[in-house]
Amino acid sequence: MNILLIGFMGCGKTSLGKKLAKKMDLKFIDLDKIIEQDEQLSVDEIFNSKGEDYFRQLETNWLSNFEGENYVVSLGGGSPCFNDNMGIINSLGTSVYLQMNSGLLTDRLFHSKQKRPLIEKFKNDKPRLILEIEKLLKHRETFYKKANVIFEASNMSAAKLNSLVGLVKNKTNR
Ligand code: S3P
Repeated sequence: MNILLIGFMGCGKTSLGKKLAKKMDLKFIDLDKIIEQDEQLSVDEIFNSKGEDYFRQLETNWLSNFEGENYVVSLGGGSPCFNDNMGIINSLGTSVYLQMNSGLLTDRLFHSKQKRPLIEKFKNDKPRLILEIEKLLKHRETFYKKANVIFEASNMSAAKLNSLVGLVKNKTNR
């Protein structure tokens, strides 16, 4: 069984993914990290030096070739939204959309130290940042909502993590 976590930048895919993997005794991987290791560049450097299309192709190539079992995979926020990747994602295991509203996402991204190329230029302008996030989220939710499980991911607690484990097991055992 594999679990694939999708959702907007800043929704907590990586930190929740690690916790979920531990709880379910699965291995954890983060696609951005894999790409950074393979390319020997940060995601930000790849966008700047090789362009977004190149990065999107790397995501699709990786998803198309993934043959692992018993993984929690944290994907990049844009991974499901290009090249019919959502179809591939759903063929690899149980997909979970970690849903969060645009206001909370904006707060989290505004305070984040991580460089994210798509929002870097709005990073110091919160009103503009929220507009960009609202626009992008609206477009992306059409892809995210194709996930097998949609999970509201704000205020994560131990109890909420347990309920996510239950939902994922339920979907996976059908
Ligand atoms: C992106 C999200 C990032 C990273 C890249 C592009 C996106 O990952 O893949 O900066 O298009 O939303 P996170 O969702 O982990 O920030």
